[in-house]
Amino acid sequence: MTEHLTIVDHPLVQHKLTLMREKGTSTAVFRQLLREISQFLAYEVTRDLPLTKRRIETPMQEMEAPVLAGKKLALISILRAGNGLLDGVLELIPSARVGFVGLYRDEETLQPVQYYFKVPESLEDRLVIAVDPMLATGNSSVAAIDLLKKAGATNIRFLCLLAAPEGVARMKEAHPDVPIVTASLDSRLNDKGYIVPGLGDAGDRMFGTK
Ligand code: URA
Repeated sequence: MTEHLTIVDHPLVQHKLTLMREKGTSTAVFRQLLREISQFLAYEVTRDLPLTKRRIETPMQEMEAPVLAGKKLALISILRAGNGLLDGVLELIPSARVGFVGLYRDEETLQPVQYYFKVPESLEDRLVIAVDPMLATGNSSVAAIDLLKKAGATNIRFLCLLAAPEGVARMKEAHPDVPIVTASLDSRLNDKGYIVPGLGDAGDRMFGTK
């Protein structure tokens, strides 16, 4: 990918995103829409994956047919909201390896602190796609990608549902080599770090915790 930020403006994505944003949308419908949108986002973030050829036999004849090249890619969910995106992406790429990064915000320093880190082996040989629905301040995304790079990843992409300009700028500064794919670049962050107009707390809305 050459662009630092790709906005997936497909009409179906934009329509489904509007339904997700509406505050009256139920948890079940929110989760289903997220699953559907994440497949479109996965399509976009993988559109330039390298292919190789494999000799196969159709009922008609033999042919050299395209298949994905290289090691299985790694999907990394940034907990906990990342799991909502992960499910849909995995439906499209079922053989992907999966990892998890857990970070919480220290209320005194406001810095992200790692509480869980488990990723597939040989990250250095894989395309790594980090997923988190909301790119807000960018603090946790930048920290998660720092950890993935420390673990060996060199080819990383970031997949989110919504991005704020502040988060995109922070990512570009810290990780200019990591392309971002999103369904929308919203207006701004509010003083609590929420994306406006946004959709509220993605984790609460997908898991029904509020
Ligand atoms: N995380 C969320 O869930 N929502 C936001 O608006 C920002 C961060």
